[in-house]
Amino acid sequence: MCGIVGIVGNKPVAGRLVDALKRLEYRGYDSAGVATIDNGVMDRRRAEGKLFNLEKRLADEPLGGNIGIAHTRWATHGVPNETNAHPHFVEGVAVVHNGIIENFAELRDELMREGAHFTTQTDTEIVAQLIAKYRRQGYDNRAAMLAMLNHVTGAYALVVMFENDPDTIMAARFGPPLAIGFGKGEMFLGSDAIALAPFTNDIVYMVDGDCAVIHHDSAEITDFSGKPVERPHQISQASAFLVDKGNHRHFMEKEIHEQPEVISHALSNYIDFHSQTVRLDETAIDFGKVSRLAVSACGTAYLSGLVGKYWFERYARLPVEIDVASEFRYREMPLSKDEAALFISQSGETADTLASLRYCKEQGLRIGGIVNVKESTIARESDGVYPILAGPEIGVASTKAFTCQLAVLASLAIGAGRMRGTLTEAEEKQMVRSLSELPRIMSGVLNDIQPQMESLARELSKFHHVLYLGRGTSYPMALEGALKLKEISYIHAEGYAAGELKHGPIALIDENMPVIVIAPHDRFFEKTVSNMQEVAARGGRIIFITDEKGAAASKLPTMATIVLPNVAELIAPMVFALPVQLLAYHTAVFMGTDVDQPRNLAKSVTVE
Ligand code: AGP
Repeated sequence: MCGIVGIVGNKPVAGRLVDALKRLEYRGYDSAGVATIDNGVMDRRRAEGKLFNLEKRLADEPLGGNIGIAHTRWATHGVPNETNAHPHFVEGVAVVHNGIIENFAELRDELMREGAHFTTQTDTEIVAQLIAKYRRQGYDNRAAMLAMLNHVTGAYALVVMFENDPDTIMAARFGPPLAIGFGKGEMFLGSDAIALAPFTNDIVYMVDGDCAVIHHDSAEITDFSGKPVERPHQISQASAFLVDKGNHRHFMEKEIHEQPEVISHALSNYIDFHSQTVRLDETAIDFGKVSRLAVSACGTAYLSGLVGKYWFERYARLPVEIDVASEFRYREMPLSKDEAALFISQSGETADTLASLRYCKEQGLRIGGIVNVKESTIARESDGVYPILAGPEIGVASTKAFTCQLAVLASLAIGAGRMRGTLTEAEEKQMVRSLSELPRIMSGVLNDIQPQMESLARELSKFHHVLYLGRGTSYPMALEGALKLKEISYIHAEGYAAGELKHGPIALIDENMPVIVIAPHDRFFEKTVSNMQEVAARGGRIIFITDEKGAAASKLPTMATIVLPNVAELIAPMVFALPVQLLAYHTAVFMGTDVDQPRNLAKSVTVE
């Protein structure tokens, strides 16, 4: 949700803090700020909007000092303006915060009754105000920090600096991630290891309930009662090279075109291409022994799980109970120890997904995490990790992570089928062969359909409402298509099971609402064509995404027909994801929206 950085340095820090924020900007970009202490004076620069506004501010008004904290914000409380930008100052205390202080309103009322004067609308200011209050009561900095931590509730990663102590930064974690980096005579704090990669790869990940006091060459970590705790050092794999766009206009475009390559990385981690079999780490989840699989995730990750549900149930005869993470644990569904749970998350930090994981862990289920960040909290709290190896995904709209999640889920479903005896060896080999064709097929599709998608997007950008339809595994693809379009072009879009059209949505059909039908020539094709006839009969305009057999079989008039190669049913979702992604991308480009950092969104939603 937000990005946090801190440095207890032996040379000026302001520029390095901003560089580190650049590596965190994908977490939020409503505003940004830096605070340092120079010759005993704490000062700050803040700016609304993107990071380059802060860079301009610092160029005009430089900040000296070898100690500092910084923040890039995704607004939760208070409009995203400079006043509400972090760091927040109260009586010589500076705070940056990621998360939500849930009891901030009652604490704010209490402090205001005691005469405190608030200058912002943020929940974060309550942290600085509380620390200042305890310091006025005679607490030292550390005691004031611990007292504050025992008063606030919610989810937070906090970094605090004190004007009267230019050699120390304090940090606390309860929910959103926070990592400590060990340098040479310098120490670092960051929301993740990517931010710290240029400085060090010697990392300690704080866990919930940790409070750290960071000096020039050491970190004292305690719990919130002040009892010392030990945390292991890890060597981070995060790349020191800032991910760049190469020759693409946007990270999203680059990541769409990376899919053939990264899918092959993902598959190679689960498939023995020589024996054409799936090889799974059976110590993670033994699919042969589980009676049911619970799956939970958010957004696009949830939709990959929805596709996976069809595969696990059809190929492994394994019942799957899936729900969006924000609903999953509140349903209190009956779970038993002979079940397992899979959590899918690109970032591995999504708060709702993490909360659902912890709910299942409490119920004694075996936990699997399908993640893109192996060092993430979800990975660390899973019994078994299934990495998707998509490489850093910077564009807020998930693309390559989605298709890599699908590749991993397909591999797991095939492996589960073998473990449960529901797939023959020949069937397994055939399915693995289909998966192995994906990189080649996806490369071909990306080359073939690019011009058509750009011209079609120009048409689509003129509409205000779009409906996506699909059946079987194309139904979650319809939902994903709608999500992609709405989140980057801001055009209202809805995905629907094609069979549900006549149960309501058909009332919407007219020439002002294009209907995008996702339909490979599979078992459901004829029924989906009937739905298309229902649309055409009412003057609806159809964009038909199908394959060669489908294009030959349907003579219905369309606004456009995108023809993909005939592929095995198993891999259709990964292949049909490409036109869905490109259509959303090019439409957004025509709409002139900020494709990589759409309004109101963040790449990792670390608050519930
Ligand atoms: C996807 O395009 C969205 N940006 C969003 O729905 C995302 O998939 C969701 O927030 C889950 O994120 P995660 O995979 O990091 O958990």
